[in-house]
Amino acid sequence: MSRLKVADRPYDIVLFGATGFVGELTAEYLAAHAPKGLRWAVAGRDGEKLRRLRDRLPAEDVGVLLADVSDPDSLRELARHARVLATTVGPYVRYGDALVAACAEAGTDYLDLTGEPEFVDLTYVRHDARARETGARLVHACGFDSVPHDLGVHFTVRHLPEGVPLSVDGFVRVGAAFSGGTLASALGQFARGRRLRAAALERRRHEPRLAGRRVATPAGTPRFAGEVGAWALPLPTVDAQIVRRSARALERYGPDFRYRHYAAVRRLPVAVGGVAAVGALVAAAQVPPARRLLSGRLAPGDGPSAERRARSWFSVRFVGEGGGRKVFTEVSGGDPGYDETAKMFAEAALCLALDALPPTAGQVTTAVAMGDALTDRLRAAGIGFRVAATR
Ligand SMILES: NC(=O)c1ccc[n+]([C@@H]2O[C@H](COP(=O)([O-])OP(=O)(O)OC[C@H]3O[C@@H](n4cnc5c(N)ncnc54)[C@H](OP(=O)(O)O)[C@@H]3O)[C@@H](O)[C@H]2O)c1
Repeated sequence: MSRLKVADRPYDIVLFGATGFVGELTAEYLAAHAPKGLRWAVAGRDGEKLRRLRDRLPAEDVGVLLADVSDPDSLRELARHARVLATTVGPYVRYGDALVAACAEAGTDYLDLTGEPEFVDLTYVRHDARARETGARLVHACGFDSVPHDLGVHFTVRHLPEGVPLSVDGFVRVGAAFSGGTLASALGQFARGRRLRAAALERRRHEPRLAGRRVATPAGTPRFAGEVGAWALPLPTVDAQIVRRSARALERYGPDFRYRHYAAVRRLPVAVGGVAAVGALVAAAQVPPARRLLSGRLAPGDGPSAERRARSWFSVRFVGEGGGRKVFTEVSGGDPGYDETAKMFAEAALCLALDALPPTAGQVTTAVAMGDALTDRLRAAGIGFRVAATR
């Protein structure tokens, strides 16, 4: 696929799932921040809802495109209309594969908000090779999962010496609520343990071995982490896997790289309660009636109010070490699940559409595809990336 053909597409960015909770926030962000002349469209399955959204947006010439995940032809058509296609239609393991296939085939850059490791592994096995041939960049996890962690580690590594073994620990703290779409994705994921492990195994069979370097993301153990003054609980989210892929792809992470990912909790009873709550959610997700009951508590499209989101925040602190140097960094911002996720998602789409980036193709992470360019965009948009101390 020549990049010229891609440049001829009617839209620079198409936002699919624009009528959902995060979709609307992303459309509002694009309407407020897209540079003049950017050609973009909202897409989804409900024309009436899309037109109502488009008419509310403070932007001109926003296109409207119809597509449904149950109609693969409509997804192929959608992929042919965009240079960059950003989708919020999840749970991705249920709804997402056909659109990734369509983008890989059409040479269209693809972004999503998945936090589902099984989906990322399956799309790697199925579509990475074709995307490399057509030049499509397939970038998963472009929201709070996993941008602050992936770019935060990338930022931390840039402050450590080159060519030596490096280790980074990440400590996540959030104060926030979540939406119906996120609850559905989380419950679906907890119910799919065996399929998740099978997909990871299949990926490992396809992934080339890393020659001459080592990259590890061990789970770590619960402990009091004096360096951040909090209890650290190993966090089994997709983030560490994304960091691992960035470290595999980028020589700058050194000959021997290790990353450990934790939730940081100030008080021990909260730590114990958090582990118990996640355990209960995982257990409930195994029983279909309990899963349906929990899903029903928040309908798709529902989410926290603007007031609740305004009080929400996140902070990810990193401790990096190597070559005799130690660096403490932090990535921080407002409401992680929605406002900041919409910001990260929209800025990532703008970055792929507009910025001069290193040539990459196939399944790539935000750090590999966009790296400093996206970090700079997010800093300009109010997300903090700072070095707190060095030793
Ligand atoms: N940590 C993160 O990075 C993060 C944060 C927030 C959300 N997420 C993920 O992002 C996804 C969206 O979350 P949300 O809260 O915005 O969900 P949501 O409000 O339920 O929105 C889902 C969107 O998908 C669309 N959709 C559903 N079925 C479709 C179909 N058959 N064809 C076309 N479109 C279809 C819906 O369209 P209609 O309006 O027509 O129903 C809606 O626009 C979830 O997977 C969630 O887990 C990730």
